[in-house]
Amino acid sequence: MASIDEIKSRIDILDLAAEAGVKLRRTGRNYTGFCPFHSNTRTPAFVVWPESGTWRCFGECNEGGDIFKFVMKKEGLDFKEALQRLAEKAGVTLERLQPEKLEQKEENQRLRNLLEDAVMFYRHQLLNTEAGKFALTYLLEKRNLTLPTIEAFGLGYAPHSWDATLNYFRGKHYTEQDILDVGLLSERENGGYYDKFRHRVMIPIRDENGRMTGFGGRILDPNDIPKFMNSPQTVLFDKGRLLYGLDRARKPIRAADQAVIVEGYLDVIAVHQAGYENVVSPMGTALTEDQLRMLKRFTRKIVLALDPDVAGQKAVLRGLDAAREAMDREEEHGFDARGLLRHESRLQADLRVATMPDALDPDEIVAREPAEWARLIADAKPIVEHVLDVLVSEQDVNDPKVKAEIASRVLTLIEDLQNPVERDSYRQMLARRLKVDERSLTGPKRVGEAVRRMPARKAEPAPSPSAAPLAVPVSPFRKMEAACLGHVLRRPDLLPRLDRRLQESGLSALSVADFEYTDYQAILLLIQGSLEQDEADTTAFVSARLADELSETHSELLAQPVPKGADDRLLDELTRQVLQMRRTVLSESVNQLRFLAEETHASELNRSAQQYARVLQAIDQARKRLSEYRRE
Ligand code: UTP
Ligand code: MN
Repeated sequence: MASIDEIKSRIDILDLAAEAGVKLRRTGRNYTGFCPFHSNTRTPAFVVWPESGTWRCFGECNEGGDIFKFVMKKEGLDFKEALQRLAEKAGVTLERLQPEKLEQKEENQRLRNLLEDAVMFYRHQLLNTEAGKFALTYLLEKRNLTLPTIEAFGLGYAPHSWDATLNYFRGKHYTEQDILDVGLLSERENGGYYDKFRHRVMIPIRDENGRMTGFGGRILDPNDIPKFMNSPQTVLFDKGRLLYGLDRARKPIRAADQAVIVEGYLDVIAVHQAGYENVVSPMGTALTEDQLRMLKRFTRKIVLALDPDVAGQKAVLRGLDAAREAMDREEEHGFDARGLLRHESRLQADLRVATMPDALDPDEIVAREPAEWARLIADAKPIVEHVLDVLVSEQDVNDPKVKAEIASRVLTLIEDLQNPVERDSYRQMLARRLKVDERSLTGPKRVGEAVRRMPARKAEPAPSPSAAPLAVPVSPFRKMEAACLGHVLRRPDLLPRLDRRLQESGLSALSVADFEYTDYQAILLLIQGSLEQDEADTTAFVSARLADELSETHSELLAQPVPKGADDRLLDELTRQVLQMRRTVLSESVNQLRFLAEETHASELNRSAQQYARVLQAIDQARKRLSEYRRE
């Protein structure tokens, strides 16, 4: 979830209004009261919709919006300031929101350019030099990669030298500090610098939008250590917030409605080459909730394809024990079943585990038989079942002591589950597998568990006692706006035709007033701005001007499926979306106004209601016309 959505899900517009001194009364699904923005104690024309997190004043202000707009108006802040204020309140960290943001952004761009240069440099070393031959042969012959794959992933070779990289970049007028900042140099103790990556295969690591962040470098000499050297933590490279391969995998993940997480870079590459492109990997660290959250934007079905190494299996057990001692320790390596289950429930995801057979890594599986990969992934097991499988397969389950040991370990997991139905069915499964009576499987008391399960971050919602979803769903209204805006973002050329159509029906052109959510309004303004110039295409124009705090919203919009079809059909579809959005807001408003007018005998509200109703009629006529075009 983007930070903005997370803030929206954690802050209740009703609380905000209450804190601003608005006394609200429940009227059906909404709440009404006196508007805090204009002085009036006669007509309560202020309405709040808690489900969509929006509000509107039907009186003098005739304005509305989301929580951000509320704070902006109430406190006289701009969007960024309101975002900061509410992020703090919600306990959401906006890491990219530093005051030196703009400078930082330019600086980051400069560093990214340096890294792009480095990709070219290492690529040249790999493909066109004598020194690179050994690495190239290794990739082609030992790792079974093809040239197109090597090119697609931008692989390269860092020469066997202490200063080849350093000298190359010096020659291009970069400073040593720059090269150090992107993580390509190491500092000598007595001053001076040397190449950090030497005689290694270089794997560019890009963020989900394809922007360079750093490198992973694999040894070519088996005696070198470490086996993989990664860029150090830099402003661009933050391991816990990146997934290797996501730039190429995001579309396939959405198309397959499934993401597969493997352990290594070369596994990602090999499995992509085998035709399974919905695959990503972390960078040698335990999976973080941030990473799962990133994937969750594309699918809720996530499969972990785990290497079968003994350490991995041991980690299953260690994970359990360690989790008991150190709850919520994020930097736990290996497979931490309990942590994963907690992520799964918090994110409303479907997490499964696939185990690779015969001590093979995913790259070796697809080399053996590509179709086997599909079978293994289809066979992935829910986490609890996987843990049970591992425990049962390694021991003699007829031994009563072993039974008791396994039962206690798995029950710890089961009792942690939020959903009682799930708990029950796992308990039954456990009983069957251990061949014991289910009644003997009474786990630790739930009360004690609940205390230990206290959220690590303060602002996190406490676990709900029922099976109700923990995550606040994105309001359907926000989804509707997102679909429409995403469409406009990808096909801005349709915008003038859309506006003409709306005007022909006596309706106003698309404007920020059509969007309730402040971040969407800001992006629409940029899109419209892009149409008033012809130097850059819309995507470039918008990206260049996008405030950092909107970049997550922007990439989520871009991650939506690309609208397909003939232009006329797309225009119809877009028109339909806009009319639908307007219709929803207006009919809600008309109802609300009629109700308020009746209650307060305020004639101005009645007049507004009539006005709104007229627009509504025009919209319905336009909708009718649209469905007629379609039939022709
Ligand atoms: P593995 O050691 O399992 O390597 O590390 P691998 O991916 O199977 O590599 P090959 O097949 O031997 O070439 C898995 C992942 O853990 C990270 C890397 O991201 C690697 O891809 N890792 C591993 C490190 O970051 N540092 C290391 O020293 C080792
Ligand atoms: Mn491997």
